[in-house]
Amino acid sequence: MVSPKLSNTIVIALVFLFFTYESKGESMSKVNLSIYYDSLCQSCAIFIVKNLEEIFNNDLIDIVNLQLVPWANSYVNQTYNSISCQNGPDECELNSLEACALNIWPNVDTHYGLIHCFEFLAIDGKNKMWQNCTNQLGLPLEPIKNCFNRGNGTELGQKYIDEIAKLDPPHSFVPWVVVNNQPIGKDYENFTQYVCKAYKGDAIPAACNVHLNASEK
Ligand SMILES: *[C@@H]1O[C@H](CO)[C@@H](O)[C@H](O)[C@H]1NC(C)=O
Ligand SMILES: *[C@@H]1O[C@H](CO)[C@@H](O)[C@H](O)[C@H]1NC(C)=O
Ligand SMILES: *[C@@H]1O[C@H](CO)[C@@H](O)[C@H](O)[C@H]1NC(C)=O
Ligand SMILES: *[C@@H]1O[C@H](CO)[C@@H](O)[C@H](O)[C@H]1NC(C)=O
Ligand SMILES: *[C@@H]1O[C@H](CO)[C@@H](O)[C@H](O)[C@H]1NC(C)=O
Repeated sequence: MVSPKLSNTIVIALVFLFFTYESKGESMSKVNLSIYYDSLCQSCAIFIVKNLEEIFNNDLIDIVNLQLVPWANSYVNQTYNSISCQNGPDECELNSLEACALNIWPNVDTHYGLIHCFEFLAIDGKNKMWQNCTNQLGLPLEPIKNCFNRGNGTELGQKYIDEIAKLDPPHSFVPWVVVNNQPIGKDYENFTQYVCKAYKGDAIPAACNVHLNASEK
């Protein structure tokens, strides 16, 4: 006869297995949504602040692996052997800070929150006040300041530049939105439809039903 203690252990083990299986299955069916951008490009800032915010307000984030990739239109300045940014040195600065944020806070809610705040300031040309954002969000200033001052943001930038150079097909403008390796081009504001279409899992978020209903009408 199985003792009550042993049967409890078996039940716990089965529940544990079930949940590890479930969460693994879920993360495998998530849709990769990658945004290649530059921090001072206006259409990028608006996309990040307005369109991308929606997925955190509805439940689309549950089925998405969001990857933000700054430094998209930067390049190595051969004359000076340094990185130059399309919109000048201020953009390199903010690209660095955002690369630091992504690296220091891998949690998507945290880094998206901070980058949203940076980009909100950037829309009004107030990006120099980026320190207000750590304050507002209750995040420590030191790690991001250290990362930036030591030049690690630029070092990370080099990593992103290499990643962007490998895009196939290559990007032709920013923001460049890619859903499971498929760029969606000028239709980037409609990314939700592409994400819902690409999703193969069972936990269909309400945000996708809204879209289906809207297109049926
Ligand atoms: C290279 O960097 C220098 C110094 O920052 C800058 O004056 C110049 O415009 C840059 N060249 C290009 C092609 O961006
Ligand atoms: C940033 O913070 C300073 C000091 O708290 C404040 O005076 C300023 O208005 C803030 N700027 C923005 C754009 O939030
Ligand atoms: C930052 O850069 C320094 C010097 O290159 C390196 O030693 C350090 O590990 C880097 N830190 C992070 C968090 O990448
Ligand atoms: C999503 O990206 C991860 C790694 O970045 C990769 O392993 C996975 O295959 C991608 N999923 C799809 C559906 O492309
Ligand atoms: C987004 O999709 C809607 C409906 O399918 C379409 O009318 C609109 O033109 C699309 N937007 C862009 C930027 O392509």
